[in-house]
Amino acid sequence: MSHDFAAKPVLTGELVTLRPFTEADLPAIAEVLNDPDVGRMTMSYTSTAELEADHTGVEDVREFYLRNATATDRLDLAIVDNANGAVVGEAVLNDYDAATSSANFRILIGPAGRGRGLGTEATRLMTDHGLDVIGLHRIGLDVFSFNPAGRRAYSKAGFVYEGTKRDAAVFDGERIDEHFMSRLATDPRP
Ligand SMILES: CC(C)(COP(=O)(O)OP(=O)(O)OC[C@H]1O[C@@H](n2cnc3c(N)ncnc32)[C@H](O)[C@@H]1OP(=O)(O)O)[C@@H](O)C(=O)NCCC(=O)NCCS
Repeated sequence: MSHDFAAKPVLTGELVTLRPFTEADLPAIAEVLNDPDVGRMTMSYTSTAELEADHTGVEDVREFYLRNATATDRLDLAIVDNANGAVVGEAVLNDYDAATSSANFRILIGPAGRGRGLGTEATRLMTDHGLDVIGLHRIGLDVFSFNPAGRRAYSKAGFVYEGTKRDAAVFDGERIDEHFMSRLATDPRP
C-alpha cells in the first residue's frame, strides 16, 4: 500500500489547530527551537554549554521548512494555539517506511504552549490522521527519561510503552535512558 503524505491537511481540535507551515511562521518556529528545554528534551545537544552557544535564526530554518511543506514522504504541521492564534510548535510524521507502513512521530512546543494539554491533543490529532487517513499501521516515537511530561502526554494520546534503551544518551555528563512507544492501527483508541 502506498501512503499519501502529499496532501497537507488542517486538523482542528478544541485546544489546537494543526496546519501547514507558511513563510510567515518561520520567526515563531525559530524562537521555539531556541528554547533550552526544547533543545534538551529533543537531545539536539549534548550539554547546556553547547545549547547556550547555539542560536537558530530564520535563515537557518527557511529551506528545511519550505522544502518539507511540499514533501511527499513526511508531514510537518504547525501547532496553533486556538486561544490566541499563535504558532507554539510543530508536530511531524517522518522516517516513513513503505514496507512496514510505519513512520516516526515527533513534536515540540515552546514555553508559551506547554502544560495546558496542547501537546496531548496535537499528538492525538496528528497520529489519528496518520493511522486513519494516511493509512499507516504503526507510528513509533522515542522519549528520554528526563521528559516525564512527554511520556505522559503520549500515553494519554494512545501511545503504548514498548521498552527502554538504557543509558542511550549523555547530557551534561549524565547518562539518560531512551524509552520507545508506539501506536498501532489495531490498538484500542484513547
Ligand atoms: C512534550 C510536550 C509535547 C508535551 O506537551 P504539553 O502540552 O506540555 O503536555 P500536556 O499538557 O498535554 O500533558 C503533559 C502531562 O504530563 C504531566 N506532567 C507534567 N510534568 C510532569 C512530570 N514531571 N512528571 C509526570 N507527569 C508530568 C502533566 O500533568 C500532564 O498530564 P495530566 O494532563 O494527566 O495532568 C511539550 O512539553 C514539549 O514539546 N516539550 C519540549 C520539547 C519536547 O519535549 N519534545 C518531545 C521530545 S520526545
